[in-house]
Amino acid sequence: MAFLANALSRVKPSATIAVSQKARELKAKGRDIIGLGAGEPDFDTPDNIKAAAIDAINRGETKYTPVSGIPELRKAIAAKFKRENNLDYDWQQTIVGTGGKQILFNAFMATLNPGDEVVIPAPYWVSYPEMVAICGGTSVFVPTKIDNGFKLAAADLEAAITPKTKWLMFNSPSNPSGAAYTEAELKALTDVLMRHPHVWILSDDMYEHLTYGDFVFTTPAQIEPALKDRTLTMNGVSKAYAMTGWRIGYAAGPLELIKAMDMIQGQQTSGACSIAQWAAVEALNGTQDFIPKNQEIFRGRRDLVVSMLNQAKGIKCPVPEGAFYVYPSCADLIGKTAPSGKVIETDEDFVTELLETEGVAVVHGSAFGQGPNFRISYATSEALLEEACNRIQRFCAALR
Ligand SMILES: Cc1ncc(COP(=O)(O)O)c(C=O)c1O
Repeated sequence: MAFLANALSRVKPSATIAVSQKARELKAKGRDIIGLGAGEPDFDTPDNIKAAAIDAINRGETKYTPVSGIPELRKAIAAKFKRENNLDYDWQQTIVGTGGKQILFNAFMATLNPGDEVVIPAPYWVSYPEMVAICGGTSVFVPTKIDNGFKLAAADLEAAITPKTKWLMFNSPSNPSGAAYTEAELKALTDVLMRHPHVWILSDDMYEHLTYGDFVFTTPAQIEPALKDRTLTMNGVSKAYAMTGWRIGYAAGPLELIKAMDMIQGQQTSGACSIAQWAAVEALNGTQDFIPKNQEIFRGRRDLVVSMLNQAKGIKCPVPEGAFYVYPSCADLIGKTAPSGKVIETDEDFVTELLETEGVAVVHGSAFGQGPNFRISYATSEALLEEACNRIQRFCAALR
């Protein structure tokens, strides 16, 4: 009898973690490696947020908290949804988890029965299908087109819905493509969902504050209030406030669902870290000056990377609206041969050869369910991004 659970056979390890690991190993051997795999801002957490955590420690806020989070944070979350998204939630309709990841996991755990389907537009964040699989559900992937900016088309969403569909897993701005939906694009999707009352929407708004230029962020429950009773809107402080290590995510939704998620969390991790929760209160209620400053830095990096990639032979890179990723296509390079003699047959071959010959670590698109592409995280300095793009240009030019 096998000791490990059958559920494990349904789950894959994270490709993004594997790339970071490989880059670390090569670096340890003395190679000059530029890592563009990581999904976190390179900035430090703002000082006012750090100070709030230190105050919380000094006040003795070091005990268990309520499972769904301290009321102060849940009230700050309800106020955030009102202020930024024009969504009215009672603070009891909110829940705090250990990172956005736990919120998503609890939502799937609380709702999926074997055979239930979750519609996931591709390319998708690597963890969605794995979480769905662990929770016993079935992912239904819907491909998107590069020429449509990797955005889900309304007709494709409609075609993917079956009587077994439980959730649409929606993510804007997207990891890995950076695609963010305009109000009109979102409305086309919510119109489809209005025709299918059994389908719920899980909106992952984690990159809400990372959009550029004059793009205006909106979220499904805001665009179509009639969907609010079947929408879970999830967000967190990880990306917007450079707080990935603090592990605070949150959501708001119908009370019955929030209570079910609370029950699961209560038998699992209980309340999130008390100190991190107090830091998150300051993140949400304190000054938001940090956000536009970061947006400006990220916009400059995005423009640099997109422009340099489009000058690389055989690479096509759309301009994404948000997040800190670009998702260029390397389709025109498939079938070419590298100077080492290696034939590039897949996007995984492309990124492996790029890492080995030029020392640039990126993640292959097939890990995100759509290729041949690769994902670059531009959450690093312009100097390093410029050097990395120079190397990518050299690598592509050398393919025959
Ligand atoms: C799209 C998306 N959702 C959720 C998360 C999880 O965020 P957290 O670090 O708060 O668990 C991430 C992190 O990479 C992400 O990219």
